[in-house]
Amino acid sequence: MIPQLPSSAPFNEAQRWWLNGYLAALLATEDSSEREVAAASAPKQRVLVLYASQSGNSESLAEQFGEAMRGKGFEAPVLGMEDFEAEALQQENYILIVSSTWGEGDPPDNAVDFWEALSAEDFPKLEELHYGVLGLGDSNYLDFCGMGKKFDQRLADLGATRLVPRGDCDTDYEETANAWFESALTALGATQESEKEAGSEQTDGITYSKKHPFPAKLLTNRTLNAADSPRDTRHFEFSLAGSGLSYEVGDVLGIYPKNDPELVDEIVALLGFEPDAPCGESTFKQVLIHDFDIRTVPATLLQKWPTPVEGSFHEVIDLLKAAPVTFESPEAFVSLLRKLGPRLYSISSSPKAHPDEVHLTVAKVTYDFDDRPRKGVCSTYLSDRVNGDGTVRVFLQTAKHFKLPEDPNIPVIMIGPGTGIAPFRAFLEERSVTKAPGKNWLFFGNPHESTDWLYREEVQEWEREGILSQLSTAWSRDQATKVYVQDRMREAGEEFWKWLEEGAAIYVCGDAKRMAKDVDAALRDIIESHGKVSAEEAEVYVSKLKKDKRYQRDVY
Ligand SMILES: Cc1cc2nc3c(=O)[nH]c(=O)nc-3n(C[C@H](O)[C@H](O)[C@H](O)COP(=O)(O)OP(=O)(O)OC[C@H]3O[C@@H](n4cnc5c(N)ncnc54)[C@H](O)[C@@H]3O)c2cc1C
Ligand SMILES: Cc1cc2nc3c(=O)[nH]c(=O)nc-3n(C[C@H](O)[C@H](O)[C@H](O)COP(=O)(O)O)c2cc1C
Repeated sequence: MIPQLPSSAPFNEAQRWWLNGYLAALLATEDSSEREVAAASAPKQRVLVLYASQSGNSESLAEQFGEAMRGKGFEAPVLGMEDFEAEALQQENYILIVSSTWGEGDPPDNAVDFWEALSAEDFPKLEELHYGVLGLGDSNYLDFCGMGKKFDQRLADLGATRLVPRGDCDTDYEETANAWFESALTALGATQESEKEAGSEQTDGITYSKKHPFPAKLLTNRTLNAADSPRDTRHFEFSLAGSGLSYEVGDVLGIYPKNDPELVDEIVALLGFEPDAPCGESTFKQVLIHDFDIRTVPATLLQKWPTPVEGSFHEVIDLLKAAPVTFESPEAFVSLLRKLGPRLYSISSSPKAHPDEVHLTVAKVTYDFDDRPRKGVCSTYLSDRVNGDGTVRVFLQTAKHFKLPEDPNIPVIMIGPGTGIAPFRAFLEERSVTKAPGKNWLFFGNPHESTDWLYREEVQEWEREGILSQLSTAWSRDQATKVYVQDRMREAGEEFWKWLEEGAAIYVCGDAKRMAKDVDAALRDIIESHGKVSAEEAEVYVSKLKKDKRYQRDVY
């Protein structure tokens, strides 16, 4: 008979389950090779990993956790919340949730329906369920890790048992995420031996990933606006030759930027240190250029500032000027700053059209605030400060939630004003190279036709070739009344509805604050007025579109 752990043994239910299965397999035979086979065939404990993710961070972590758990003998499927009905939680015993937060404390698109169902008043109790929640967020937002907190609380309210305390990750999330996962594994009766990064690729023994970014040569840097436009949107091309990295259209490129040395000099001078004063293993100036966020003023910085300060400050330099302080050492100052994190950009090339290259479409962020010119870190770095060997540290992030339909016959509607055009240039290149027979409709907008029509020649060429079946442009400031892409959608409502009924997939990319919301409202209006249904029925129609992956967004 195969022994079982006594009920008094100091293990929780999950640990007992896993250990009993493992012991059974181990003791089933004396022969070590047979033992291995038996262990492999022992019943596997199922732990479902669910993710709520918009730009792919939670998704990659969930995949990474799933892979690590499968390596430890668990059955660990990984699913986006759009692919899992909340009611099915009643059939699960163990789940791990990885969720980011978007908007102002809102769920990512792929989790809207799941969250709505889970928060329904009459949702059944989940007393058999054991769970752990890891939240991803950004402490600059008021509702930090809001969705992680909501999932954690809701599951507790439904009677589920928390396996591990909730993890709240800031932008620099790897360390907290790994520590949380280790605790989750311990609670599940296993331990983590080695961490493996998701999405990493290997060539000649070198693995490039977010942790080990590839130095990609910047090949092209050109402005897409006309010289007399106040806007400066750049087209960048990087070489991926020799990296072993590959991507699909819809994916995202991460860039590690460097701070502006002029701003660094100013900060160093205000603090009264020498630029080459030692700081850790480098100099103060180098550390400030490469390692720390010298613009954002996180709440914790104000709380820890050596002299009392009131009010809000746009950048660290404003705080230093308003409340000058003397620090003991450069280290004491940098210990109050956040790490300089990578920026994400929607890839604007198809690898089939540009092998070994990756392209981006980036708006250069420059503006005046309190009579001082300000510069966005990464967009100005890419535009003006890539020097030395001309390489930029990059990594790839897959975006499963933003993919062209597998069936090339499906019509595609793409709504991408401003830099939102980026992934659609990639989509159109891909549909052109692969000779996909499905129709394509692009909605693009910007202030002026004469100066701000990004990729005009390419778009017009696609129109001539018939790759673009329809093109709708909205030049917001070319007439007295402002016109936006959502207005063009409503004007073409009848045709839009026809495409929807033919099974078209809709993609939206660009500004999350206003554009994506206005486009969403226009889509519902079209369904209501041309589908002749009520607002509630339109809501159901949109939910179905999302579930069928026919309404996907890459908004920021
Ligand atoms: C999934 C994803 C895809 C993206 N794709 C693209 C893309 O294809 N193209 C693209 O250009 N960007 C894209 N972005 C945005 C990009 O990641 C950066 O946020 C952007 O380039 C700004 O970074 P920065 O380092 O230059 O500016 P930062 O140094 O991060 O500064 C930006 C901050 O400056 C402040 N700010 C900016 N303008 C003003 C103003 N007028 N007044 C007051 N404050 C202001 C705001 O606080 C803003 O958050 C994407 C983001 C995500 C999450
Ligand atoms: C438009 C936008 C809104 C966001 N809103 C919040 C928020 O309200 N609270 C928060 O903690 N983080 C917020 N974040 C930060 C994201 O949650 C964070 O970047 C996270 O790592 C994204 O993970 P994902 O790629 O899995 O979606 C926001 C980010 C963006 C770009």
